Amino acid sequence: MRITVIGGGYVGLTTGVCFAHLGNEVMVVEKIPQKVELLKKGRSPIYEPGLEELLQENLREGRIHFTTDLREGLEFSHVIFICVGTPQKPDGSADLSQVEEVARETAKLMKSYKLLIEKSTVPVNTHKLIKRTVQRYLKDPNIPYDVASNPEFLREGSAIEDFLKPDRIVVGVESQRAKEIFEKLYKDFDCPIIYTDPATAELIKHASNSFLAMKISFINMVADLCEKTGADVKLVADGMGYDKRIGRAFLNAGIGYGGSCFPKDVKAFIRMAQDYGLNFGLLREVERINQERPAKFVEKLKKVLWSLKDKKIALWGLSFKPNTDDIREAPSIKVAELLIKENALLSLYDPKAMENFKLLFPEGKQINYAKDPYSAVEGASALLILTEWEEFVKADLGKVKELMELPIILDGRNIYEPQEVKALGFEYYPTGR
Ligand code: UDX
Repeated sequence: MRITVIGGGYVGLTTGVCFAHLGNEVMVVEKIPQKVELLKKGRSPIYEPGLEELLQENLREGRIHFTTDLREGLEFSHVIFICVGTPQKPDGSADLSQVEEVARETAKLMKSYKLLIEKSTVPVNTHKLIKRTVQRYLKDPNIPYDVASNPEFLREGSAIEDFLKPDRIVVGVESQRAKEIFEKLYKDFDCPIIYTDPATAELIKHASNSFLAMKISFINMVADLCEKTGADVKLVADGMGYDKRIGRAFLNAGIGYGGSCFPKDVKAFIRMAQDYGLNFGLLREVERINQERPAKFVEKLKKVLWSLKDKKIALWGLSFKPNTDDIREAPSIKVAELLIKENALLSLYDPKAMENFKLLFPEGKQINYAKDPYSAVEGASALLILTEWEEFVKADLGKVKELMELPIILDGRNIYEPQEVKALGFEYYPTGR
């Protein structure tokens, strides 16, 4: 099939590259010319395992194309995926101006049938606003079109795998014509495909993300309780997880969730409920619990070291999760801010995210970036683990101990077994264990 993807960000790029990989012909429309130039050369503007290789393969096969021109994109295909950003407004609601712009500009250029598909996470009933906008700006009001919702559930760091092997595909459609396009599009996928109305599809996405965030905040409170009582949160999560009604996934306690989705989507969900006259207080607590994680973590460090002033503190992991260079809403940002306030000296290391972090925290008197995990800990009074990169899991802790001034580890991701680390002579403070 021929497919047009509007927006070359995380979701758009993965969608485009993966559909091309499945044998379709894809045109990605991206506004930023520098990004298009980069992509045409087979370079990915974001770090995502496997993405660049797949991009290059499909460029070679001539299955993927990039343009800045929306008209070209619309002439290419009648299947249009809208993958533009839906950032957060100061009041917590989703900023849908990019979605509105795509709907408006598409309508102005439309000459024949188009299926407009929302892939970005949007508040329920956004499809109605898209439809109203398209209808208003159409040159000829009789041109047929459909608006559908086909939310994307991919995670950063495993985006390709998540796209190609999803747990389920959700499709919200209103016409048989649109449904048949999706049936063709997803014919080679062997997961459950849920056909429903667009509002339900939109809500499935938002509710899923909020629910997962709720699991994380729940287990993080249980972790605090474990620390007070001597119980082990990892075993509590295992014990709970065997219950099929609960499930073990997303019960890893730690420093809290970050990224471009959970913090924003929880806020938007609260806000959306409020717009419909409902108080989703449960999610306000989810958010509050998450927001206090970094401060609690730094408080723990202060208790251990008494004063942080002029002490070298090593931070391993700056991205909001492993296998990405993304630092949006990463707990590391709050932790770094709090440590700077305490006049600590920060020694930072991350396998992929240091360049992005430098934009927020330039190198200076209090901030130093290390070339590898070992030079980061040299002379440090404590090591804080903020992201569970494989490189840290496999690190030579014997060497780490020799290099540090004090052998103290605070683990915000529970990557080590307490007995083993303590046996090496570390003072080890995991989360909730
Ligand atoms: C999430 C959703 O999982 C995905 O379906 C959606 O499409 C986009 O948002 P992503 O933000 O890429 O994906 O990462 P995810 O793996 O879900 O992790 C989000 C955050 O939660 C990370 O900061 C992670 O460290 C944290 N997390 C996750 C925990 O703290 N504990 C867990 O058990 C799981």
